[in-house]
Amino acid sequence: MHVFVTGASGWIGSPVVDDLMAMGHVVTGLARSESSAAVLAAKGVQVLRGDLDDLGSLRTGAEAADAVIHLANKHDWSNPAASSAAERAAVQTIGEALIGSNRPFLLASGMVPGGSGRVGTELDRSPFHGLNTPRGGSENLAMEFVDRGVHAVAVRFAPTVHGMGDYGLIAMIAAIARAKGVSGYPGDGTNRWPAVHRSDASRAVVLSLGTAPAGTRLHAIAEEGVRTKEIAEAIGRAFALPVTSIAPDDVSNHFGWIGTFFGMDLSASSIATQELLGWTPTGPTLIEDIDAGAYTSS
Ligand SMILES: NC(=O)c1ccc[n+]([C@@H]2O[C@H](COP(=O)([O-])OP(=O)(O)OC[C@H]3O[C@@H](n4cnc5c(N)ncnc54)[C@H](OP(=O)(O)O)[C@@H]3O)[C@@H](O)[C@H]2O)c1
Repeated sequence: MHVFVTGASGWIGSPVVDDLMAMGHVVTGLARSESSAAVLAAKGVQVLRGDLDDLGSLRTGAEAADAVIHLANKHDWSNPAASSAAERAAVQTIGEALIGSNRPFLLASGMVPGGSGRVGTELDRSPFHGLNTPRGGSENLAMEFVDRGVHAVAVRFAPTVHGMGDYGLIAMIAAIARAKGVSGYPGDGTNRWPAVHRSDASRAVVLSLGTAPAGTRLHAIAEEGVRTKEIAEAIGRAFALPVTSIAPDDVSNHFGWIGTFFGMDLSASSIATQELLGWTPTGPTLIEDIDAGAYTSS
């Protein structure tokens, strides 16, 4: 299969590309910079130079491929509206390019809060519709293309896809701990974050290519929920910092924008995903990775 991957140089995209190629697929990767293009070319990936802001490049890549895996994201944390707008426009463009083809279109998505401490499942519908919602409502937008002959599948990643060298949300929380001199957790720290190792997340993506029916929402989750107090304690051990509760009223001030996420209970299961894909996560747990130095080595 010829697979067009956006975000092919990213944290999740890199192992996805490796896994696809190991399975004999031909990969075209979108690259917005010379350095990303060089990394991809060195792996034997066909490079398509382009950008999320250059929708023509996304259209070209999607039209030429048998399947699309969309992982690129601006991740402009200082301007989330810009990231959401780019994400929505990208999904709209790729969806339109694939209309009537029944070709797979896998897109990255995020957790849907179960609410009231309930563990979320793949059956939970995303409440995010439209441009002014998280990720620009891209999951629901992609699903609107199913009735138009697009084999859309959403892969909801745990908020921490961890591993050695991770620069995602846990790295940001660790950086805040170092800057503040304390490793904090919101309130009583009983709210939970799901987690998945990078290698397991990649395998779930690649397995879903030929397996997941159109319209499926998948959970790339290994651990249903790790308490934020346990995460803070592990970060405290890693950097020899005291561990402390941050009062709910002070969470935004202490953690900045990430406090809203860190204060949420996002626990969710992946039982349906594991059964559907025949996928069993085998990588280290989040706490094992923190204890092994995943966030201290850089
Ligand atoms: N990592 C996690 O813990 C996690 C958790 C939940 C959901 N997700 C979602 O999963 C997806 C992949 O995440 P990730 O962690 O792999 O992200 P990442 O490491 O930040 O990689 C993002 C990718 O997008 C590319 N990109 C950024 N801006 C671009 C632009 N303007 N035009 C074209 N490409 C651009 C980057 O290319 P360059 O190499 O050129 O920078 C990179 O390949 C994202 O949608 C993310 O929100 C990730």
